Amino acid sequence: MPDPAIVLSDVDLSLGRGAARVHVLRGISLAVARGEAVGLVGPSGSGKSTLLMVMAGLERPDSGTIAVEGTDLGGLDEDALARFRGRRIGIVFQAFHLVPTMTALENVALPLELADKPEALARARAELEAVGLGHRLHHYPAQLSGGEQQRVAIARAVAPDPAILVADEPTGNLDEATGRQIVDLLFALKRDRGATLVLVTHDAGLARLCDRTVRLRSGLVEAPVAA
Ligand SMILES: Nc1ncnc2c1ncn2[C@@H]1O[C@H](COP(=O)(O)OP(=O)(O)O)[C@@H](O)[C@H]1O
Ligand SMILES: [Mg+2]
Repeated sequence: MPDPAIVLSDVDLSLGRGAARVHVLRGISLAVARGEAVGLVGPSGSGKSTLLMVMAGLERPDSGTIAVEGTDLGGLDEDALARFRGRRIGIVFQAFHLVPTMTALENVALPLELADKPEALARARAELEAVGLGHRLHHYPAQLSGGEQQRVAIARAVAPDPAILVADEPTGNLDEATGRQIVDLLFALKRDRGATLVLVTHDAGLARLCDRTVRLRSGLVEAPVAA
């Protein structure tokens, strides 16, 4: 692969303590090209969410390496890793994870402020308008529908213009029609910004929209399947 966005080499990770300790990732090697959309699929408990967190720099492996856009995440201390994440990686969760005490506008402005981007509020407003929420700027998460909350979360994830967008079952908490709108939005943003997209999904239709599917089973990559 000439110009990979993400390269994992022999990533191994166990989580939990004592009897609850689980060998979650058992030697995962995987490369994702720049601009590629990869669907991570596999049974519940196979390690999809954990793998996504490792790719996003939110979880460190016990061994193995992760390079994102040529930067070895293992070489960054916690502060540097947090800065790198804030600027280069956008993350969308199934349960939205908005700050409940902040308005939609404040939620989207937050990562821009943390990344020292100028005009954070103006940019946040533009991002919310781009996801069709220009009329909900001052609503709090509890005052928004599930689909609207996920739009805010997506606007927040893409606002710093990350090279990489990861999404963990982004439609898992939404009805089918709303889920489809969110998927269309994610792929449109990916296309417009040339970002790399890695998403976990149970939805075969969503997986088919990806350039490639990677199937996990018990912490191992089962077989890369061409779309
Ligand atoms: N913090 C943790 N402590 C112990 N076990 C964990 C922890 N996080 C995840 N696991 C276990 O690791 C396995 C993979 O979890 P996960 O990555 O969430 O799978 P998936 O997203 O594919 O459903 C599961 O068996 C889960 O119970
Ligand atoms: Mg999961």
